[in-house]
Amino acid sequence: MPEYLPTAPYRGTRDFLPAEMSVRTQVFGHLYDVVERFGYQRYDGPILESAEIYEAKSGQEIADQQLYTLTDRGGRRLALRPEMTPSVARMIAGNAGSLQFPVRWYSHPNCHRYERPQRGRVREHWQLNVDIFGSDAASCEIEIFEVIHALMGEFGATRDMYAVRANDRTLLASALTDLAGVPAEHLAAVYSLVDRWEKYDRDKLAADAEEIGLSDKQFARLAETLGMGTALLDELPAEVKDASNLVQVLRSEAAELVQFDPLIVRGLAYYTGTVFEVFDTSPENNRALFGGGRYSDLAGLFTAKEIPGIGFGMGDVTLIDFLTTHGLLPSPRSEYDVAVIPVTADLTGAARSVATRLRSAGLRTSSPLEHRKLGKELTRADKAGARAVVIVGQEDWDAGNVTVRSLATREQTTVALDAAADSVAALL
Ligand code: HAM
Repeated sequence: MPEYLPTAPYRGTRDFLPAEMSVRTQVFGHLYDVVERFGYQRYDGPILESAEIYEAKSGQEIADQQLYTLTDRGGRRLALRPEMTPSVARMIAGNAGSLQFPVRWYSHPNCHRYERPQRGRVREHWQLNVDIFGSDAASCEIEIFEVIHALMGEFGATRDMYAVRANDRTLLASALTDLAGVPAEHLAAVYSLVDRWEKYDRDKLAADAEEIGLSDKQFARLAETLGMGTALLDELPAEVKDASNLVQVLRSEAAELVQFDPLIVRGLAYYTGTVFEVFDTSPENNRALFGGGRYSDLAGLFTAKEIPGIGFGMGDVTLIDFLTTHGLLPSPRSEYDVAVIPVTADLTGAARSVATRLRSAGLRTSSPLEHRKLGKELTRADKAGARAVVIVGQEDWDAGNVTVRSLATREQTTVALDAAADSVAALL
């Protein structure tokens, strides 16, 4: 027996066969429609970037554990992009002179992370990125939350199906240092602990806290502080709250767009203010659908100019799980609308010319590549999901006619060649 290579794709990556691709194309089309309605412009960039741009500010989890790195033939250290934000910050910094700020941009890159594949997590995912650059105003937060609700609403999702949970790292820093007594030097490590708070049990968290260098007492105060939920806001100093964009949102009429949650911190290191995640309320989908926040100094990797940014990434895997769970996933489109079938091999050229006419009328039209019996072609068209077939027989053809058959009712009528497209369109 010869040894064949595996047909399965690399672990954690996916092939998309046409039926699945059809669903994805429709889902993605909705995403682009919504963000374009808000005036966001699409950009793109390379999948390969210098590894440094992730090592600098994305944080340890990405840089040490998840980055796919390689060295090119010139000895440059590169990475497959695990996310888009450092790339877009690079593009914004590089073109800042010619851009009219604030800038609203979106993209839909595939991103690679070396993660253990599991529900909601793969090694190559597609991530809708929506970001605003060049404004510190809390209206950016409001618009970004509005975009999130508009995206979800476009699929027919209702507010009970998902939750937008937000925090502000400046509030969290104050809560951790002023209320919980976490020493400033442990802050970054404690952020990462808070990020895991809901995933781990208390013993594991306590062990991690000890490793960071927190005493039992500090850990107990930390747990107490985080456990306060929304009430935590009342305990924070007024000047910290007054400077927070999220608090401004919560004090405005837009407060209903989001819920304050002290446990949201985000794994990425570059966030400096508002941070948020969107979760499915259905417990089987426990991974965030969206993750994002405000980052005041990421462009600072590339330029002296200060260009604040805020935005989010929304992953395809969690979105499709969400839509499936809530019965909101669109169906695949049929392969084509209509097939043009010659009754004999001699009529193949005639059928091809009819197909050309139908295509000019905008109909998705197929005609057989090899001649087979009419019955077989009818079955094939039916399986392909076509709504109609046009049968080209010698007698009809000689009289300038064709026969249009509905695959739903099996009724057929003979029509003049000129009327074929309209007659098919009426059956779709
Ligand atoms: P992130 O939270 O790492 O943020 O990813 C955003 C979203 O991408 C997640 O909520 C999830 O839906 C999806 N995602 C991430 N990793 C995977 C994976 N391994 N498998 C499947 N889906 C995944 C960022 O990447 C930020 N750069 C987002 C951002 C844009 N912040 C500001 N602007």
